[in-house]
Amino acid sequence: MCGIVGYIGDQQASKIIIEGLKRLEYRGYDSAGIAVLNGKLEVKKGKGKVSNLEKMVTSAQNGQIGIGHTRWATHGEPNDINSHPHTSQNGKMALVHNGIIENYGTLKKKLTDQGYEFYSQTDTEVVAKLIESFLVKDNRSLKKAVQHALHQVEGTYGIAIVHSDYPDQIVVARKGSPLLIGVGEGEMLIASDASAVAAYTDKVVYLDDGELAVITKEGYTVESANQIELTKEVHELALSLEEIEKGGYDHFMLKEIFEQPKAISDCLRGRINSEDGTITLGGIEDVMDKLVNAKRVVIAACGTSWHSGLVGEYLFEYLAKVPVEVEYASEFRYKEPLIGEGDVMIAISQSGETADTLAALREAKARGALVLGVVNVVGSTIARETDAGVYIHAGPEIGVASTKAFTAQVTVLTMMAIKLGLEKGTITKTRATELITELSRIPAKIEEVLEDTTEIQRISNLFSYAPNFLYLGRSYSFPVALEGALKLKEISYIHAEGYPAAEMKHGPIALIDEMMPVVVIAATHHTNDKMISNIEEVRARKGRIIAISTSENTEVADLAEFTTIIPETMDVFSPLVSVIPLQLLSYYIAVNRGCNVDQPRNLAKSVTVE
Ligand code: G6P
Repeated sequence: MCGIVGYIGDQQASKIIIEGLKRLEYRGYDSAGIAVLNGKLEVKKGKGKVSNLEKMVTSAQNGQIGIGHTRWATHGEPNDINSHPHTSQNGKMALVHNGIIENYGTLKKKLTDQGYEFYSQTDTEVVAKLIESFLVKDNRSLKKAVQHALHQVEGTYGIAIVHSDYPDQIVVARKGSPLLIGVGEGEMLIASDASAVAAYTDKVVYLDDGELAVITKEGYTVESANQIELTKEVHELALSLEEIEKGGYDHFMLKEIFEQPKAISDCLRGRINSEDGTITLGGIEDVMDKLVNAKRVVIAACGTSWHSGLVGEYLFEYLAKVPVEVEYASEFRYKEPLIGEGDVMIAISQSGETADTLAALREAKARGALVLGVVNVVGSTIARETDAGVYIHAGPEIGVASTKAFTAQVTVLTMMAIKLGLEKGTITKTRATELITELSRIPAKIEEVLEDTTEIQRISNLFSYAPNFLYLGRSYSFPVALEGALKLKEISYIHAEGYPAAEMKHGPIALIDEMMPVVVIAATHHTNDKMISNIEEVRARKGRIIAISTSENTEVADLAEFTTIIPETMDVFSPLVSVIPLQLLSYYIAVNRGCNVDQPRNLAKSVTVE
């Protein structure tokens, strides 16, 4: 949520900051703003996207130091005044913030009593004035004033500050919201994530919670919360510019859908061996004994990652015979969770920054559970705070609606379940070899689905203006139904519900009439007969059946009004293939409706507030 970029060096800061903000726009796009030091502090900001801001920033803004922000609104509606940066009363200092200041009401009152005036409804303006109050009162250095102010602040923040009396430094601090330093030669950048700095440097330093840094164009110093100077590890980024650009596709989402065969191959590479039926997952080898002896596994995640967790539940219970619970990370903490030693939590997150997932894993860790991560973004907070984990290696995912991260997460969970099953003896080596061999064929099967999208486009054209959709699936196809419905809601704003097919009888069936498109995912063999009965029930009420099924399943094709054919695979792998037409369906419908596919309204890709 919210993206922060900053630059200090010899180049025109505003150009670099705007470019970085565009790369971070997936974190929020309610408003954007920039502050540059050019003799004095110059601020431009306003409602809307970074492209609006770009028009406001004239060449007059020639300073070589500055900070910028793209906002996902928490406190205060997304208007010009509430946009970041927020400034001090004397107009010398500007601050951008990602996170939530929980005690901003109390602080605001104190500052108002001291004579400070507030113009916005944001929690952030309070921090700007609080820092100013310490600067003015005690004539401290900017760093000291920030440190002092942050001691009084409760909540989460990633902040960056520039001040015209300190024209050679940017002060940044982090607690709960991600922030990194991009280390260049004679120039430095700061950003919420690496995609904003990748064009300028491949060296980054990740700040940890409680840390504060002073950045100059020659270097940086980092201090811990108790003001001890730290030596931070410099990480090398493995991020190419090509990966974070659209590469000829109309939208990032479409590019990412088509990248799935590669993403899954990358995810499998070096990890599976279909000749000897083994799986090597370097990140969790050392904790495998704990996983083997786990009383149960608790999966915590949000959104699409929660759906892949549900697929994980089916996989772990079937292949490794371990009880699994899948928790919404946002609920986990608030139910006094019964979790402790002997339990294993798997936290799944594309971004590795989702605040609720982070809170859930911290809770589980504090109660003694082993916490594993299944994460995409290397070096992210969740990746660093888990005891061990497996990266999904899907490459940067920029489209707000998650696609390739879902299939890569499911791929990792599949490998983990097979590996665990092998080590526990719940599957034989022969069975593991069969499974691994089929798993290695999945990228080619997805490729097959992507080769011809004509039918799915035809269906999309017919139903683009349907007000509602129902998605039904059983067994492994149930989480896929939920994911299909979520994709449609997210980017086309059509109301859609995913349901276990049999549960339809207990409510949603009342909604079915000749206006209702019902997407049935008939991709699992062991539930096919029952699925056919459910299709009959929909037909009897004149629902419009859109089936996702295999060519061998002629019975389903005969009953459905439309069928999208996917290749045959084992039931355990079916989500990896059956989800593809659903991603495409939502994509083409959103495009037909003129929706902003990559930046759907009100959403953000990285949700760093609880
Ligand atoms: C947001 C995104 C979703 C994502 C969810 C969880 O809602 O828009 O695409 O599934 O957060 O994010 P994570 O990064 O933890 O997987």
